[in-house]
Amino acid sequence: MSGAFLLDTPVVRAFVTDVKATIASTPSPEDACEALRPRFAELLADPDWLPAEYQAPAPESGMGGGIGQWALYRSEDGSLSLFALVVPSGSETPIHDHLAWGLVGLYRGDQDEEIYRRANGSLELVEQRPLRPGDFYVLIPPRDDIHRVRTTSRVTSVSIHLLTNDTGCVWRHAYDESGESRPFRSGGIHLAAALVVGIILGPVLHVVPGLPSVLSLFVALFAVGLPAITYMLLVGMWLVQLAAGQVSTPRG
Ligand SMILES: [Fe+2]
Repeated sequence: MSGAFLLDTPVVRAFVTDVKATIASTPSPEDACEALRPRFAELLADPDWLPAEYQAPAPESGMGGGIGQWALYRSEDGSLSLFALVVPSGSETPIHDHLAWGLVGLYRGDQDEEIYRRANGSLELVEQRPLRPGDFYVLIPPRDDIHRVRTTSRVTSVSIHLLTNDTGCVWRHAYDESGESRPFRSGGIHLAAALVVGIILGPVLHVVPGLPSVLSLFVALFAVGLPAITYMLLVGMWLVQLAAGQVSTPRG
């Protein structure tokens, strides 16, 4: 199957296969979401398929509050993604949109969700609802596309997102209370990349007490530089492939 399985297990592969077949055989997002309900509920009810590493907060993710977004599957053409959003107790996401239809469900912990809509250039809170493990909801823009979630349980919450774009990589919008928007890209953590950074930084930051601040600065620069260099290498490889005619680009 095309696409990248960041969590490559039989359960995730079977789920993605079923989802793609359902989407291909239904005429509209509404119909697809309705048809996907039992399969999505089944995934949320299975306590064993998501390893603990993908349920861990990610203080280094840059989303604030220890919020982490763990990519599980990304389709090659950017038309489908599956990821786990981890929100520590008491933390909340910014108000944000998704710009894609799909299903979002709570796997662990409790959340409060606030749903907003745009009205006269500002945001209006239209609904607030508690979510428990197993609860899920449909997102179909523009309806229900703007929301904020907050973890209300003492344990970290984990929600599973099945969305029809490459959510971590597309530019979306985050909003302040007045409705002012700013470009927002949540990113997505690849466990392998996080492990590499952790392996490098862990011993330096935790085993060497009283690390001089100038050395800390070099460590921080290295932590930023490593992903940047990797990204530039990937872009370079893509450009070489493009020049060789091995990849296609969108037209129109
Ligand atoms: Fe969201």
